[in-house]
Amino acid sequence: MIDLQHISKSYGTGEGAYEALRDVSFRVEDGEFVAIMGPSGSGKSTLMHIIGALDTPTSGTYTLDGKDVSTLSDDELADIRREHIGFVFQSFNLLPRTTVLRNVMLPLVYEGVEGKERNARARKALLSVGLDETHFTHLSNQLSGGQIQRVAIARALVNDPTLILADEPTGNLDTKTGEIVLETFQRLNRDEGRTIIIITHEQEVAEHADRIVYIRDGKIAEVERTHKQ
Ligand SMILES: Nc1ncnc2c1ncn2[C@@H]1O[C@H](COP(=O)(O)OP(=O)(O)O)[C@@H](O)[C@H]1O
Ligand SMILES: [Mg+2]
Repeated sequence: MIDLQHISKSYGTGEGAYEALRDVSFRVEDGEFVAIMGPSGSGKSTLMHIIGALDTPTSGTYTLDGKDVSTLSDDELADIRREHIGFVFQSFNLLPRTTVLRNVMLPLVYEGVEGKERNARARKALLSVGLDETHFTHLSNQLSGGQIQRVAIARALVNDPTLILADEPTGNLDTKTGEIVLETFQRLNRDEGRTIIIITHEQEVAEHADRIVYIRDGKIAEVERTHKQ
């Protein structure tokens, strides 16, 4: 469970300091699907970085599964990410001249998982997002946008995270491809019980979540429960 209490985040110091998050409090239950919306510069990515243990807040407390994450060292944050969290970014962040399989295996290389198991887990993750086996040995820059995003999701899944964070995962995709990617997230949430938080600009995408959290000027402006069936 995610519990943010009075979280603020400032960038810079003194005159030039900018408060990107201002006294944000909210909770996400295990197995929830939450969408975050808000204008550009409102603090969405900053919030996601804190939830994802990529950064710590300037003040306030963040508790993840009962553990106070806001005071951890960089090494401890890295452990939290490795054990609990999968990230999907809009810019995909795949290595271009590297095969699909290798891209998905990479997080496990850093984790020290041995070759055979690495391979098996990467294949399983790729199949679970519906990528055809014929693409596994292709270089990631030989794929379509939708295929690349599926590889990015597979890579986020390879450490079997309970929490998946996605920053505009459908932002660069056409409508049809975006729907397929969204269906993948829905399945990971509904069938596998994973907690999902996505940032999106598209109301249609957000309607697939249980709740929509609207951020404005670094604050939660509104929380809306959707009518998802
Ligand atoms: N590393 C940083 N250093 C300084 N300012 C930053 C940094 N990251 C974000 N900001 C500022 O914080 C505000 C919120 O940014 P961000 O969370 O990326 O917004 P969003 O994702 O909603 O577009 C913006 O004004 C942005 O310029
Ligand atoms: Mg952003």
